[in-house]
Amino acid sequence: MKIRFLLMLASVVFFINACSKDDNEAVAALEAPIANAPKDVNDHGFRAKWNYVSNSKSYLLDVSTTENFTSFVPNYNAKPVTDLNEVVAGLNGGTQYYYRVRAKSETEISGYSNVISVVTTGSSNIPEDPTFLKVKANKLANPFFIGMAVKASQLTSGSAYDIILKNEFSSISAEYEMKMDQISTASGVYNWTVADKIVAYGNANTINVHGHALVWHNSVPAWLKNYSGTDAEFAAEVKKYITDVVTHYAGKIKSWDVVNEAVDDNGGNMRNTIFLQRMGPNYVKDCFQWARNAANAAGDTSLLLFYNDYATSTNIPKQDKVFSLMDDLKASKLIDGIGFQMHNTYLSPTKAQLETDLNRAVTKGLKIHVSELDIQVNPSNDISTFTNERRLAQKEKYKEIVKIYNALPAANKYALTVWGMKDNESWIPFSTELNHPGNDWPLLYDSNFAIKSSHTGFLEGLD
Ligand code: GLA
Repeated sequence: MKIRFLLMLASVVFFINACSKDDNEAVAALEAPIANAPKDVNDHGFRAKWNYVSNSKSYLLDVSTTENFTSFVPNYNAKPVTDLNEVVAGLNGGTQYYYRVRAKSETEISGYSNVISVVTTGSSNIPEDPTFLKVKANKLANPFFIGMAVKASQLTSGSAYDIILKNEFSSISAEYEMKMDQISTASGVYNWTVADKIVAYGNANTINVHGHALVWHNSVPAWLKNYSGTDAEFAAEVKKYITDVVTHYAGKIKSWDVVNEAVDDNGGNMRNTIFLQRMGPNYVKDCFQWARNAANAAGDTSLLLFYNDYATSTNIPKQDKVFSLMDDLKASKLIDGIGFQMHNTYLSPTKAQLETDLNRAVTKGLKIHVSELDIQVNPSNDISTFTNERRLAQKEKYKEIVKIYNALPAANKYALTVWGMKDNESWIPFSTELNHPGNDWPLLYDSNFAIKSSHTGFLEGLD
């Protein structure tokens, strides 16, 4: 009896084991295919390709215009294919597409392959969105200024530039004509003509004016560079300059970059400028104090004071140093906001890097000015014409930064300023520090004042 029971038990155990073995085989997943770069890319399509998956009988192909496949190109939502490639046809020219594929056996469907990005050749026949930037921005629940860097010579009434500026932009920054070497010709002697023209243009057209910049190591006038007085006298000259300029424009401009680029690119130290050398490590705070005092004395108690710098999203020691400066200025109640220049490229910074950097400013309760935005498409000088691929990559990058900015809390938003209107007027192709002279297209308009896909991307970022 006992033996018979044990035999029965053994056969039950064997049966259960056998079943679970079968089950294991059934869940042995079909491998996901590896998708390959496309072939035969043309104006209307391409050949999508992928690797063989053992035990598969066919493949399911998805094609989309969005990287996360929130929608599908008609007929390409899990389209069954028996081969290892498929001609995708009927697409638009000059347009960004994505594809991915799954393997299918008689009983199973694999996970998704990697996603392949492909841009069709030819020019896009998808029209750009002609909506004016500030019109869309002003309809937001929490609007902010859309800024443009200007030169006084561009502000001729009735010119194409002037018309676009008034239609699209609600804030201006002087590209260079409000810097110290432009305004200060000798100790206590000022040439206001050009800077006044910019400020008057803003005031007359209800366009916000952002002052850029009181103190910057690259715009020190010769007389101050070669100043032979003592360090204390040097500091008094800087104080006098800040006081006079802030007083001159009190009530006419809403904000000033008090200090520009005080932090070094290496190791998160203070940049070794003439101001640091002559005035010591407290000079940034002194400059903010003098600006604040001058504004208050002139009856302008709502002037916003900003610190402005570049490359903080990718250079973490620099970011840390900038934010420790911010802590110091904030503790002394001397600062209102921070300017992130954002001379970016189509590849960098990443979304996560941008968000981390801007969110640190949110945490500190600072207003945020994306102050000099442009997006290079040729940082490695590997193209000689503006390709569709780069055009669309730039569009996405503009969309990304605008979206990140727009998502900030209302209290932290100030302005998002683009550093120039037309590609051919941008500083980027002419910069000797950037290694691609003559070849880049970083802005929202081409050289004929036609809106680019970057402009449409900017608008989409406001959705
Ligand atoms: C820096 C300055 C700007 C301008 C650019 C180059 O970013 O802050 O004022 O000079 O360089 O155009």
